[in-house]
Amino acid sequence: MIFRTHMAADISGLVGESVSLAGWVARRRDHGGITFIDIRDASGIAQVVADGLATEDLRMEFCIRVMGTVRARPEGTINADLPTGTVEVAADSIEVLSPSDPLPFMLDDRVDADERTRLEYRYLDLRRPRMAANLRARSKAVSAIRRSLEGLGFLEIETPTLVRSTPEGARDVLVPSRLRPGSFYALPQSPQLFKQLLMIAGVERYFQIARCYRDEDFRADRQLEFTQLDLEGAYWGENEVQTTIEAAIAAVVQDLRGESPPLPFPRLTWQESMDRYGADKPDLRFGMEIVDLSSELTGTEFRGFAATLESNGVVRGINTGAREFPRSLADKLTEEAKALGAAGLVWMVIEPDSQLRSPVAKFLAAHEQKAIVEALAGQPGDVLLLVAGPWRTAVTVLGQLRLSLGRPEGHRDLAFVWVTDFPMFEETGDGNLTFSHHPFTSPQDVEVMRNRPLEAKARAYDVVVNGVELGSGSIRIHHPDLQRQVFDILGISAEEQESRFGWFLRALRYGTPPHGGFAFGIDRLVMVLQEEANIRQVIPFPKTQTGHDPMTMSPSPVDEGQLAELGIALVEE
Ligand code: AMO
Repeated sequence: MIFRTHMAADISGLVGESVSLAGWVARRRDHGGITFIDIRDASGIAQVVADGLATEDLRMEFCIRVMGTVRARPEGTINADLPTGTVEVAADSIEVLSPSDPLPFMLDDRVDADERTRLEYRYLDLRRPRMAANLRARSKAVSAIRRSLEGLGFLEIETPTLVRSTPEGARDVLVPSRLRPGSFYALPQSPQLFKQLLMIAGVERYFQIARCYRDEDFRADRQLEFTQLDLEGAYWGENEVQTTIEAAIAAVVQDLRGESPPLPFPRLTWQESMDRYGADKPDLRFGMEIVDLSSELTGTEFRGFAATLESNGVVRGINTGAREFPRSLADKLTEEAKALGAAGLVWMVIEPDSQLRSPVAKFLAAHEQKAIVEALAGQPGDVLLLVAGPWRTAVTVLGQLRLSLGRPEGHRDLAFVWVTDFPMFEETGDGNLTFSHHPFTSPQDVEVMRNRPLEAKARAYDVVVNGVELGSGSIRIHHPDLQRQVFDILGISAEEQESRFGWFLRALRYGTPPHGGFAFGIDRLVMVLQEEANIRQVIPFPKTQTGHDPMTMSPSPVDEGQLAELGIALVEE
């Protein structure tokens, strides 16, 4: 039996022909004896007219087969919003292939049931046109990536998902071993070490659409499991990695948006990015850049600024443009600045006569006021915000205020940027050092790293789009001695180096070619290109914020027998 001759979206040019369509009842309207049914399949929607057929039993989302003839819609009933809106199918027969229970929520794009219910009935949620479009976009993205990399001679290689822990900075998801009770596999946070081993193994161009697992707090752009495009190349420097990644991203954007972003992406060093945008993932769709006002204010008598400058702090500001600035907004922004760690926030409104209205105006000399306004290119009506404090606090607080006040909604426009020259290490709260990318990243200057590790820059780079970190990569360490030195600086003892990474350090001793690579989040890229605010919208079966799947009810307890086999006993909370 042939279920259908055509897809619903393809019938526009078939006036006069007999067709058979199969799909769901997306909508039905009754007009005295005549029933209009929208039938929806994977391609789209077509209108079916049932005149004189028994349709009382047809309810929403019944799966049906319609046989009939395509005809032009009468004048005045053409639907310009629907691709098949000029035609309809006059049905000769409608057959129910399978009925549907009453729906837990409406499946059109307007109705938004709460997310828990949507996830409980994800198979219905995914029938909604927007979700179906997101699934298609994801598939297209992956195929564009494959096409672009295969053209460049890459091998697609799978690496294991039951591994020894890979340090990427998050908590591991652990899997107990039955054959070695008391021992655990980790699910990979990324294929990092395996792809480096593939370089040692002679695969000069590797990529993988890799599933990764990180047990970290859920956010709008984070899930417990996610998918990376992971790649690595031997005899590569920054430039080779970056042009390859640009080509892959451009191929995806081309296929999903119909036009390629301008290449190459602009580049900012980490230092510039922090100084000008107060973030290592700057949103370059708008200006409102941070400006250093320290030299304008040297020698100021205003204690608030003078004390900061004397103790090696900075005064930085942004011009937020002309806007209403009621007291309530001033208070709200001040609260936000304090919550982010600033001692306070200084605001200034430039009045029509160019005078400054500000709680601190009376403490600032006329030439200082003028210098601030000039440095921030202030015009009458503009609102200026200043923060004094340690450099990092001042720029990050202003960076956040900049986003709160200037960030455009949605992701229609795309502003890609490379952020390069990241610091090699960061301080942890307890005075130790941690890696800022991962511990296999090459320093730019080994001497600086040995003597002043906090000043050392890494050969690491990120791609950012619209303020979202899309991906990261680096040129790797390919000498075992240098790798040990980095472990030493990270405070990993010789014994621990041997027990955790001995196998890898050994591999590095066999003529390792210089290599580097990158990984970007496919979920995140599709999220941005589909203008979704949440990564769950582009993941077919995601988890909730608490790591729960309301459909299958996972995670779930397991029975005693399974635990006993694994040698696991549970502790009462
Ligand atoms: P990194 O840890 O920066 O680098 O990860 C690369 C990209 O993966 C995505 N990503 C996530 N997406 C969704 N949910 C998460 N929890 C999550 N965590 C990360 C982001 C991120 O930019 N091995 C290195 C790459 C390399 O050096 O080649 C790595 O994994 O888009």
